[in-house]
Amino acid sequence: MEGVIDAATRDLLTRRAGIDWTVTEFVRVVDTRLPPRVFLRHCPELANGAPRTPGGAPVHLQLLGSDPAALAANARQALSLGTTSLDLNFGCPAKLVNRHDGGASMLRDPRRLRAAVAAVHDAVGDTLPVTAKVRLGFADRRLALDCARAAEDGGARQLVVHARTRNEGYRPPAHWEWIARIRHRLSIPVVANGDIWTLEDYWKARTLSGCHDVMLGRGALADPGLAPRIRHWQGTGKQLPATCWAAKAETLIEYAAMQRNILPPKVVVARLKQWMNHMRGRDPEAARCFQALRRVTELEDFLTGLVASTGKRSEAVASPPRMPRNSRENTG
Ligand SMILES: Cc1cc2nc3c(=O)[nH]c(=O)nc-3n(C[C@H](O)[C@H](O)[C@H](O)COP(=O)(O)O)c2cc1C
Repeated sequence: MEGVIDAATRDLLTRRAGIDWTVTEFVRVVDTRLPPRVFLRHCPELANGAPRTPGGAPVHLQLLGSDPAALAANARQALSLGTTSLDLNFGCPAKLVNRHDGGASMLRDPRRLRAAVAAVHDAVGDTLPVTAKVRLGFADRRLALDCARAAEDGGARQLVVHARTRNEGYRPPAHWEWIARIRHRLSIPVVANGDIWTLEDYWKARTLSGCHDVMLGRGALADPGLAPRIRHWQGTGKQLPATCWAAKAETLIEYAAMQRNILPPKVVVARLKQWMNHMRGRDPEAARCFQALRRVTELEDFLTGLVASTGKRSEAVASPPRMPRNSRENTG
């Protein structure tokens, strides 16, 4: 998810069982072949050979674009860098992206969608699985089945369906029953996506869509324990207790510890706020903490507030020890 799910988030969310694979933020393809550094920025896991999170979940690289030749060139570039799976984004509703003919705007013309998938598929041959992500349409659902078929005909090996049109944005409800209609028409696996926030939602989405697998978006951010809870329930039939705020805050604190050596402190704070923003809608304690910290911009202050919200003393979870600035002189 663009602006939210980076390599550190993928790492944190896949430490416990439950998530089988993850996807990068989209790499925006316009009309040129992008340099390796762009791919490595979106998918630092590529630097470790086969892109996987430390917990072992494969990372699929996502491209967003409409120009078949440019998509093909970038697919080859990604292949040369070691990617093991390519996903194509036909779901992004952002106005800027759609105005430049990317994301969900491709749902207005199944032939173009097919050409984009086919170009990527032809570029990488059978060496890489190419998958696609769609919504039910742009303004309405009239082309939902045609677009899904177009993805399969173009060579997609799997289709994730976000069960809303582009114009429906992220407004509930997600129309999971429409995913069933699509699934009946395709021979490739279809994955249900949209509005899965709880175990009950998971079950309803699976039942109404008939899909074996679901994709979690905001629900996994709102509750990092959701995928493990689903997996535990699948394996045992028993429900784990709800994830408490202290556990969610620990995840955020750990995220900050991972990112503070890579990103400027203010960017880390912005990212923490974005993640917390996804938590606060369904957790009153997260909402209170978000409200208390929303104007805080200094990372140390933010972390102190976050730790305090869990009832712990801040020294206990403070940042990892740092070398004193003049450590070289001190150690001689
Ligand atoms: C902030 C934000 C960024 C997103 N970025 C991406 C993206 O880069 N690629 C993608 O395929 N979907 C992206 N999505 C869509 C989600 O993957 C997902 O399809 C959508 O949120 C519906 O699922 P959910 O209700 O479980 O969140 C994004 C959604 C949000 C809210």
